[in-house]
Amino acid sequence: MTDAEPTTSDARSRIAARLVGRERELELVLAAVGSGRDLVLEGPPGTSKTTILKAVTEEWGIPLLFVEGNADLTPAKLVGHHNPARVLREDYSADNFVPGPLAEAMRQGGFLYIEELNRAPEDTLNTLLTAMADRRIEVPRVGLIEALPTFRVVASMNPYDNVGTTRLSTSVSDRLNRIVVAYQDRAAEEGIVALRTGLTGTLADRVIPDAVAVTRGTREHPAVRQGSSVRGAIDTALVAHELLRLRGRDEASGEYAETFYDAMTVALSGRIHLDEATETTPELVLREIWEDRFVLEPAQAEPG
Ligand SMILES: Nc1ncnc2c1ncn2[C@@H]1O[C@H](COP(=O)(O)OP(=O)(O)OP(=O)(O)O)[C@@H](O)[C@H]1O
Ligand SMILES: [Mg+2]
Repeated sequence: MTDAEPTTSDARSRIAARLVGRERELELVLAAVGSGRDLVLEGPPGTSKTTILKAVTEEWGIPLLFVEGNADLTPAKLVGHHNPARVLREDYSADNFVPGPLAEAMRQGGFLYIEELNRAPEDTLNTLLTAMADRRIEVPRVGLIEALPTFRVVASMNPYDNVGTTRLSTSVSDRLNRIVVAYQDRAAEEGIVALRTGLTGTLADRVIPDAVAVTRGTREHPAVRQGSSVRGAIDTALVAHELLRLRGRDEASGEYAETFYDAMTVALSGRIHLDEATETTPELVLREIWEDRFVLEPAQAEPG
């Protein structure tokens, strides 16, 4: 795969087979990276960003290098550094340079995936901008590092994140394309939970829709600043399935709903972030969401 070769429809369907839904986002990502562009994926946690990039880079046969954007991400951490012990013995050389993720991605023609780009310090962003613009960087005592044609910078940002966050400066945002990813619909999330848990059978047929429904409920509750992603639904389904099994109950049991609530507290209470102003607790919020599903709309929650 090079810049000159667009992704074929065969390749595209192979990538799509590893994703539930996301046809549009995949197409937009392929259009951006296939045309040699760098981009930022903007969306809350758990919205397929890594899954899409893994599928694309594996199809292209190139590495995906992760780096977390935070205040500690110095230019030296991003580019690489000289091994201090070896420098003492041998002096600086290209040989004792330990490449950082940027140098690795450029040399190997991989995607450099920077999570929470907006948290990285300004001088680190500048280093990155140079690499993106020139497709090469000059490293003192190492020389020129040139990027293979498939090198890309893909960043991610969480729009709801308000802890330790600065907005991207216009000089950075002006150099990136942007693709927004939102939560998927109910049917797609049920498909993801089925795929990732591998649960099947009549109990799974009840547990999976319930897990997705209550997880989606955490995103709509007025006291919640940020609810749970589909990761919470995956864990709710697994924990509920196991807890029901441990208690010897099935989907028709009168104790199903109470058992399901216990599983929700395990899988979801740590995953919902309440508004600072609110007096309530994650457990009370979960109880309200549980009541919506199992008491107020029992018809929807019934098996079959
Ligand atoms: N469209 C999808 N198809 C299949 N599995 C998915 C899909 N979206 C998410 N998942 C599953 O949900 C989980 C979270 O997805 P992923 O890691 O891609 O999210 P992310 O956007 O990278 O999140 P974060 O911002 O927290 O890194 C993974 O277990 C992944 O397998
Ligand atoms: Mg991710």
